[in-house]
Amino acid sequence: MEQEILGIKESALSELGSAQTREELQAIRVKYLGKKGELTRILRGMGGLSPELRPKVGHLANQVRAFIEEELERRLLVILEQEKQQRLEAEAIDVTLPGRTMRRGHKHPLTIVLEEIKDIFTAMGFDIAEGPEVEWDYYNFEALNIPKGHPARDMQDSFYITEEILLRTHTSPVQIRTMERMVPNLPVRIIAPGKVYRRDDDATHSPMFHQVEGLLVDRHCTLGDLKGVLLTFARQMFGEDREIRLRPSFFPFTEPSAEVDISCFSCKGEGCRVCSGTGWLEILGAGMVHPKVLENVGYNPEEVFGFAFGMGVERIALLKYGINDLRLFFENDIRFLRQF
Ligand code: PHE
Repeated sequence: MEQEILGIKESALSELGSAQTREELQAIRVKYLGKKGELTRILRGMGGLSPELRPKVGHLANQVRAFIEEELERRLLVILEQEKQQRLEAEAIDVTLPGRTMRRGHKHPLTIVLEEIKDIFTAMGFDIAEGPEVEWDYYNFEALNIPKGHPARDMQDSFYITEEILLRTHTSPVQIRTMERMVPNLPVRIIAPGKVYRRDDDATHSPMFHQVEGLLVDRHCTLGDLKGVLLTFARQMFGEDREIRLRPSFFPFTEPSAEVDISCFSCKGEGCRVCSGTGWLEILGAGMVHPKVLENVGYNPEEVFGFAFGMGVERIALLKYGINDLRLFFENDIRFLRQF
């Protein structure tokens, strides 16, 4: 029986030596020390031994049991260490690899153009004014000499919140708000950039777009001043060799009114695809502030004069960058935006 116990010790030891996982260790524990294990079986069978042999064999069996338990423990530590090593290797960081560069974002093309416009006018002494995008009918139309039922309203249908409140269709209401705040002080000299809304949606119109309004009111202010300011703007924005021309037009809040064209920067006025062969590009609407409008805000139209203009930011960006679909500005396709 002693031989048998020593045999168990030997085979347990050799199996432990080749065990590679915790599962294998557990199997060995069960095989030798478990309820039906080999050593357990021997201890159970000791009843048949003589009283002299029993303590001796019992002692040996317990020694072997303790020995196997210790070896299991020792082997477990080795296996745990191996597993840790494998994990570390799997997660290994190669500090010599080049880093992944983070791509820097940049300003949206419309923001770039808007900032350029603001810079040009603030350098000429204009302040920046703002007004609400949700606007009273009074400021958007009425005070601008566009009463209810006026045909000019048809071209500027909008999103109405109530009958008297709408998403503004242009930045011109900021003219009224600014003059109301300033009157009777002079001069008034502002530009008003911002979002505007119209029931429009195609390749060159979006239901939301941006305008920059300009307004100058003073005791002396002529159409010549308007032309000078706009020529300065056109040259700084589109190149020093630009010319501008004013074509008669109509806006209810200016008199006289004009559409302002710049000579095409692409063909220098000879006529090309960009300017549809005309040599001119329409960039804004303008005019002298209508006496009725000055009166509406409390200035005396006999003594005070002003000019105003309004330009579409998207339109200027389209021209400047040679883009043919305005919707690209709002689709947020990174392949498009990355080009600016
Ligand atoms: N508000 C006009 C528009 O949106 C543009 C404009 C502004 C015209 C100021 C004249 C003076 O069409």
